[in-house]
Amino acid sequence: MSDITRRDFLKLLQGAGALIGVSAVATPVVAYFYPPKLIEMPTEPVLVCPESELQVGEAKIVEFGRYPAIVINTENGLKAYSAVCTHFACLVKWNPETKRLECPCHDGYFNAADGSVISGPPPKPLLALAAEVVDGQIYVKVGEA
Ligand code: FES
Repeated sequence: MSDITRRDFLKLLQGAGALIGVSAVATPVVAYFYPPKLIEMPTEPVLVCPESELQVGEAKIVEFGRYPAIVINTENGLKAYSAVCTHFACLVKWNPETKRLECPCHDGYFNAADGSVISGPPPKPLLALAAEVVDGQIYVKVGEA
């Protein structure tokens, strides 16, 4: 059995470094073209809060299966979306001043009325969910309002 020479060891390190470098570049590229799929969503409506706790212009993020959902009380009624950005899966936030959903990761902006992309790198709209009021309680569920 031969001993590993210093040169062989350096080549090994060089190869490992190259592999890590390629992975660091390839991973975001793959994620861009194949954004995460939203799986494991609840089959039953999820309680958000009492209707009185979500005033017009306010939003609330709730656990919705594996991923959070965001429910916004807009001037045109309740809107609900997956809070997962369609770019690299950061969580969007509601900005009550601009009345937009904003992704802080790469400045992605979404329209609160329909979840469409206003600007930034997200390749498609937020996944629309349905919000409804039952007995004074707001629920979010799979489906469009
Ligand atoms: S993750 Fe890049 S804009 Fe949202």
